[in-house]
Amino acid sequence: RRDGVLIVGSINADVTAYSSRLPQPGETFTGDAFALGLGGKGANQAVAVAKAGAAAHMVGCVGDDEFGSLVTSSLGEHGVRLEHVRTIAGEGVHTGIAHIRVAAGENDIVIVAGANAALDEAQLDEAFAALSGEVAVMLTQLETPLPITLAAVRRAHEAGITVILDPAPARELPEEIWPLVDIIKPNETEAALLTGIAVDSPASAAQAGRWFLERGAGAAIITMAGAGSVLVTADGVGEHAPIRVHVTDTTAAGDAFAGHLAASIAAGLGLDEAIERAGAAGAVTVTRRGASGSIATAAEVDELLAR
Ligand code: RIB
Ligand code: NA
Repeated sequence: RRDGVLIVGSINADVTAYSSRLPQPGETFTGDAFALGLGGKGANQAVAVAKAGAAAHMVGCVGDDEFGSLVTSSLGEHGVRLEHVRTIAGEGVHTGIAHIRVAAGENDIVIVAGANAALDEAQLDEAFAALSGEVAVMLTQLETPLPITLAAVRRAHEAGITVILDPAPARELPEEIWPLVDIIKPNETEAALLTGIAVDSPASAAQAGRWFLERGAGAAIITMAGAGSVLVTADGVGEHAPIRVHVTDTTAAGDAFAGHLAASIAAGLGLDEAIERAGAAGAVTVTRRGASGSIATAAEVDELLAR
């Protein structure tokens, strides 16, 4: 039965400092807390898929180092399947890292790809050969090499697997990708970079969504931090209201949304219901510090939606 999710993407160790404000350039500023844990958009989304209750099959790479052991054991504890996670041995290849600073509910991040850059077509071939009959959805992002992302999208499309692309972090993409994408899920910044349309309202989000559909994408979900999301399909435009919560740390909120969306679609839910669940998962996730560890479970989504 095809009900699992294949996640092709990055795996990072997140090194996070919390402070009352961000430092100025050149300034040394004293923070108040520190955390080291599993992150990376791919890994966070895989954790979100697993927490949402679907089988999460991760395809990615880590280094042969201490951070590599840390992130793979954390993925395993969350129930993510690791058969297609490869450890890259070799001098100087480190596990991907993200230096994160969180201050007053905002964050900034510097990532260094490390082993994530080693993801290759042979690894995709193995994963698709083993899992094409088991997965309904493939979820991918832009923290792994673009040619491999494209290859993964193409393979999934050819295998009849629903392709969800989270175009984060934002970068320009080749036109050939759009007809292969079933659902594109940018936030307002990513939508603006990809379409050239300034996205600052539901109306401009709808305009950006139509831009993706005109180029061949099946559906577009534009998420607008704290302002809900806009769904654009061939049937028209729909708005999803935000769920108001207290924001502590937005890290991985987009990943929680993407993972719950993918799991809901793999479970056979329609787009509107899947977006409701994804939005609730994002809302729970911003109330807690951290990346993968802060992601909502299916039970927490049920509870928030029942409120
Ligand atoms: O989306 C959040 C993630 O982005 C963090 O976990 C960090 O690793 C960066 O990749
Ligand atoms: Na969080």
